[in-house]
Amino acid sequence: MVTFPFFYFTFSIAVKCSKTSNLFDHLTFYFFYVKIVFFVGGKVKRWNLKKGKTDEWYTPKSAVKPILKYIKPNSVIWCPFDTKDSNFVKLLNDNNHTVIFTHIEIDCGDFFKIEPPECDYIISNPPYSIRNKILTRLFNLKIPFMMLMNVNGIFDSKIRWDLFKDSNFTLLYLKGRVNYMKEYNITTKTSSPPFQSVYICNDIFNNKQIVFDD
Ligand SMILES: C[S@@+](CC[C@H](N)C(=O)[O-])C[C@H]1O[C@@H](n2cnc3c(N)ncnc32)[C@H](O)[C@@H]1O
Repeated sequence: MVTFPFFYFTFSIAVKCSKTSNLFDHLTFYFFYVKIVFFVGGKVKRWNLKKGKTDEWYTPKSAVKPILKYIKPNSVIWCPFDTKDSNFVKLLNDNNHTVIFTHIEIDCGDFFKIEPPECDYIISNPPYSIRNKILTRLFNLKIPFMMLMNVNGIFDSKIRWDLFKDSNFTLLYLKGRVNYMKEYNITTKTSSPPFQSVYICNDIFNNKQIVFDD
């Protein structure tokens, strides 16, 4: 409510200051200018988050390889957030597993609407913006899963706390940070994300534990 009049006022002062030759007025102008830029930037970021735009990050092969040794030979694996270009799909296929992949943009592939296929595991990197909803469904499905996720604040929501406390989950830490890709088949290095990633595994290991995959 107060935001619009405040920024209108700020902007008018900034415009006035920009028209004078006084150094102090110029500094004031730059101060308000920076403030406006940050304000607009924040709005865009929040809008992107709301639209799930920040979910479009893809997993490099290096982050899929470590889990291969934990999967039983010739398994049937459902990758519910993946297209044919996904490195989960490619590497699991290359390792003689049968992969069923679905994705929201491929017909009727919405994870929340689709009937899960018969499979031994569900494996993927899901959209983080809706991780509570995703974890709730995954735990309810009672199929062993491995989901690569941002570990920051993983136990700090009540929903996740309740989901985790009674389940047989394991956190599988990968060494270093995962450099997600903005597009598939990109070989240039992306900047390191400000969080560490873990595989949240359920019914994969024998008991609740933390595994350091070196
Ligand atoms: C973090 S990306 C990871 C993509 C892929 N799993 C990978 O690791 O390269 C998550 C993907 O899930 C898709 N997605 C979002 N909501 C979905 C839903 N309800 N059902 C299926 N896919 C969804 C997004 O469009 C996005 O491509």
